[in-house]
Amino acid sequence: MSFDLGLSGRRALVTGGTKGVGAAVVQSLRNAGVKIMTTARTIPDMPQDDVLYVAADVATAEGCQTVADAALMQLGGVDIIVNVVGGSSAPGGGFAALTDNEWQNALNQNLMSAVRLDRALLPSMIEQGSGVIIHVTSIQHELPLPESTTAYAAAKAALSTYSKSLSKEVTPKGIRVVRVSPGWVETEAAVRLAERLADQSGTDYEGGKQIIMQSLGGIPLGRPARPQEVADLISFLVSPKAASITGTEIVIDGGTVPTA
Ligand SMILES: NC(=O)c1ccc[n+]([C@@H]2O[C@H](COP(=O)([O-])OP(=O)(O)OC[C@H]3O[C@@H](n4cnc5c(N)ncnc54)[C@H](OP(=O)(O)O)[C@@H]3O)[C@@H](O)[C@H]2O)c1
Repeated sequence: MSFDLGLSGRRALVTGGTKGVGAAVVQSLRNAGVKIMTTARTIPDMPQDDVLYVAADVATAEGCQTVADAALMQLGGVDIIVNVVGGSSAPGGGFAALTDNEWQNALNQNLMSAVRLDRALLPSMIEQGSGVIIHVTSIQHELPLPESTTAYAAAKAALSTYSKSLSKEVTPKGIRVVRVSPGWVETEAAVRLAERLADQSGTDYEGGKQIIMQSLGGIPLGRPARPQEVADLISFLVSPKAASITGTEIVIDGGTVPTA
């Protein structure tokens, strides 16, 4: 973004900031002068000098505690939390393939990571009387794909409801809570998936993309969102320019969700 977001000097925790949407958010906030701590299970081989990295699995209670302690110690508190971590590793096969273990994994990764980090860091935000929390949900919570992402979609729906409740509780204390709900985003992992589908179907990369878009019922825009577009939206939402935006969910999906 070319206009000043007024974010210089703010302190942000961005989870999942080494790939995909999270990496774009780290880059955008960095460019806006934000001091950033980010997390992933594996730290990149070539970390950026001015970004603090914490290796932790935020799908576990211990991992969240490690990250929250590091944020409080090394950043001295946080003004912005962007909970990006999420995803699905469940096998295909519909409801019958979803064991208790698969359900628990989906909830730990997509819901409890945000719940635990917010719970650990909100007291310091409340004490300072200001802060912004972004939860990255997914259009799948209203447009689930039953073959393999039922648990993921349900966990994102829980994250969305949790976010709404949290916003009602903490907005009067100066903390905004906003959900960002992407449709398909063309991350490195999405590119690999499109290439794999293209190979299997004897088509090219654009053909692979078409297969994914058809599985979503089509994208009126004709393409997935770019990670940078999601990051630009999040950068605006965490900035003082979005000071009146809280308790809501902003969809960025090129028109994929067919209603409302
Ligand atoms: N891509 C899409 O089309 C799409 C669509 C809708 C919603 N979303 C949502 O957008 C968010 C980002 O998705 P993405 O596709 O950009 O993800 P991605 O490319 O798979 O990157 C995930 C990031 O999170 C880290 N991570 C994953 N699990 C973790 C864990 N348990 N503990 C700590 N770090 C972890 C990864 O690093 P390590 O692997 O090293 O841990 C990586 O930095 C997710 O919440 C996803 O549900 C994505």
